[in-house]
Amino acid sequence: MSRSRLVKLGLNIDHVATVRQARGGNQPDVMSVAWEGIRGGADGITVHLREDRRHIQDQDVFELKRTISVPLNLEMSVNEDIVRVAMKLKPEKACLVPERREELTTEGGLDVCRGRKRIQQVVCLLQARGISVSLFIDPVPGQVEAAGAMGCDFIELHTGCYANRKGARRRQELLRLEKAARLAHAIGLGVNAGHGLDYENVVPIAKLPFIDELNIGHAIIARAIFVGLRNAVREMRQLISSTSLRTI
Ligand code: PXP
Repeated sequence: MSRSRLVKLGLNIDHVATVRQARGGNQPDVMSVAWEGIRGGADGITVHLREDRRHIQDQDVFELKRTISVPLNLEMSVNEDIVRVAMKLKPEKACLVPERREELTTEGGLDVCRGRKRIQQVVCLLQARGISVSLFIDPVPGQVEAAGAMGCDFIELHTGCYANRKGARRRQELLRLEKAARLAHAIGLGVNAGHGLDYENVVPIAKLPFIDELNIGHAIIARAIFVGLRNAVREMRQLISSTSLRTI
């Protein structure tokens, strides 16, 4: 069967909360920003409730879940405290990510092979609450297969290496992502991608086979300073839409 589809855009708004936390008040208001992103064409809102609560707070995730009109995707570690929050929150989607306190942002994919037991436990707990679970992994066949064995719904392919490289090395990385996407699809997993994507590098990723959703934060929030958030999301949405209509 063949059908055409549009790649979705998940807007990550962590950095809005980073600015708010810098002064401790409620400016910029995360809820209004989420709505502005939705008006610009975001298909979902993504937030990472980090263990150190450096940007998004517990109150934010509950308020977002209560008020937004699109699916909420909660990025989270497998830490017990965070899992407890997720089970109470019941977001439509959760993406399990590795987390280290000293990192500036999520630096690598989950090592599903090494963390098998705990990851499996958390996948089961979340799915039992009706949450669609994805694992954020590097585009490595062994990791894709291990994710498949966990029974998760999706993988999110880490595009950080692709984003950081240029020329032939970037093309090589793109090929690795394509192979991982094909393998994931073949074993029945949905495929998302994200990290480091921007207006200059997003198109080849949107064109990859079987991509369901791209999660993008930093580049859109940075662009919003110049053109406003609604326009920044709209521009990204247009880039993705113009390239992602295809037959699978
Ligand atoms: N996907 C995951 C799993 C992430 O951890 C992040 C960063 O929070 C993103 C996507 C978005 O990355 P960026 O902010 O570089 O667009």
